[in-house]
Amino acid sequence: MKLLVTGGAGFIGSCFIKHILNKYPSYKIINLDALTYCGNLNNLINVEKNPNYKFIKGNICDKNLVREIISGVDCVINFAAESHVDNSINNPEIFIETNIKGTLNLLQASKECKIKRYLQISTDEVYGTLGSSGYFYETTPLAPNSPYSASKASADLLVRAFYETYKFPVLITRCSNNYGPYQYPEKLIPFFILRLLNNQKVPVYGDGMNVRDWLYVYDHCEAIDLVLHKGVEGEIYNIGGHNEKTNLEITNLILEKMGKDSSYIEYVEDRLGHDRRYAISNDKITSQLGWSPKITFEEGINKTIDWYLSHQNWIKSIEEKKRI
Ligand SMILES: NC(=O)c1ccc[n+]([C@@H]2O[C@H](COP(=O)([O-])OP(=O)(O)OC[C@H]3O[C@@H](n4cnc5c(N)ncnc54)[C@H](O)[C@@H]3O)[C@@H](O)[C@H]2O)c1
Repeated sequence: MKLLVTGGAGFIGSCFIKHILNKYPSYKIINLDALTYCGNLNNLINVEKNPNYKFIKGNICDKNLVREIISGVDCVINFAAESHVDNSINNPEIFIETNIKGTLNLLQASKECKIKRYLQISTDEVYGTLGSSGYFYETTPLAPNSPYSASKASADLLVRAFYETYKFPVLITRCSNNYGPYQYPEKLIPFFILRLLNNQKVPVYGDGMNVRDWLYVYDHCEAIDLVLHKGVEGEIYNIGGHNEKTNLEITNLILEKMGKDSSYIEYVEDRLGHDRRYAISNDKITSQLGWSPKITFEEGINKTIDWYLSHQNWIKSIEEKKRI
């Protein structure tokens, strides 16, 4: 089996590549990544000499390059995206380019080359926000609230259209917030860990009561693996950890683990259009494909904090944009 993984130098894509090469020693992987500010080849040092792994630096919007690479590939798994909500509020254009036009380019080339399966990695943010109860199901209407989630929802609709119009074999996964090693330190958990390591205060948006569901990145990668191999074409699978926590709970947990008190919290003006609550039902993937998360939040957060504390060279490599 030959896979094209796009955005494989990022947080989740790099974890997925390592998972696949480890679990399926005969699989070949091409990693196409533009190495934007958050793409980092240091995430893949352990596999770069593996003869079944090949890295190509390039943009998913590049039509010629994408067509050239896709011919001969069995499946495409699209992780490549602009992924930070705050950046999308300040500069939405690049989100439209990569997340929508890039996805369309991958779909067109994949269809032309008759690949066997196309898997789009999406997010629970496409469903918008919830009140104090209830869950997002695969049937929940899309109601994205940020330019980021609107671009991901648009991409999902294109993927769906390729199934409905051309019967092209697509799948979509929508996952909740991931955390774990190798996450670029612009996202809440690594950002706060690094600030505290530098003895700086952590900025908490609004009243800190926004709720997110958290999933350890390796559990997400196992779910993607299952959907890729056993998912039903044309279907959407939600992936979540049933670990709903307020941002303040997460902050306090990190403060406690890092031996700091609440004087390190600085409340800042809320993010524009900040979704109040996300909670995702994983009933479908659990009952139909037999997936369930293996790592509890307590285990995962301890592992994550320990990893950042013991990988200061990785943090430095990001700051200095250098190879480890
Ligand atoms: N992080 C989360 O909590 C989360 C949750 C659910 C879904 N997702 C989705 O999972 C995917 C991966 O997320 P992540 O957290 O690993 O993101 P990330 O920001 O860490 O990585 C994105 C990768 O895509 C690459 N990239 C960006 N634009 C590109 C382009 N035009 N062409 C080729 N490569 C490009 C970057 O260089 C980077 O390596 C995204 O599609 C995101 O929407 C993320």
